[in-house]
Amino acid sequence: MTERHAGPAESVEVLKDGQAGVRVLFTAEQIQARVREMGLQIARDLGHSTVGPVYIGVLKGACMFQCDLARATPLDVELDFLSVSSYGSGTTSSGTVRLVSDVRCEIKGRHVVVCEGVVDSGSTLSFILDMLRSRGPASVKVATLLDKVPCRRVQVPVDYFGWKIGAEFVIGYGMDVAERYRNLPYVGVMQEA
Ligand code: PRP
Repeated sequence: MTERHAGPAESVEVLKDGQAGVRVLFTAEQIQARVREMGLQIARDLGHSTVGPVYIGVLKGACMFQCDLARATPLDVELDFLSVSSYGSGTTSSGTVRLVSDVRCEIKGRHVVVCEGVVDSGSTLSFILDMLRSRGPASVKVATLLDKVPCRRVQVPVDYFGWKIGAEFVIGYGMDVAERYRNLPYVGVMQEA
């Protein structure tokens, strides 16, 4: 899908269609190292529980992060998923969120970790947290690979984050432009070729 255009120092990938390049923000190696730290931290925080936590991934952006985080957590982790949609399109979210598909597990009394690829305005996470908290979990934590702090419009708790970033539109490692580029192993920012 991509070919190496420059060495790691430059960290620019050119996508094969030649239409755009990607400035690499975080390499696959950096992501794996950071996610391993996060998994160990969560295990330290939740390891006292007799029942393992349930990691709830917010589709689709969290898919890679959720699975890697679960593998990096030395606990008996259960996986579940939910899907929401925001009205509007483009590279910013509109703030109006609705549930598209719900988790299948019973979360009452469970320790829940909501897994996100990126927290932007906070609207998606706020909606999800309200919904999950109303079901009586033992605790709800939030883990996100990326936290776009300057974009926040709704205050939400972020318990674990990989990196705080600016307002740039990121792709790769689960995150997309019109459903493309989710399978890039790194996180980058689109730029002109
Ligand atoms: C992205 C991201 C978060 C949400 C964050 O999802 O994965 O779920 O936006 O935005 P917010 O904090 O402004 O609400 P997106 O709507 O792009 O769907 P996707 O995960 O399927 O790509």
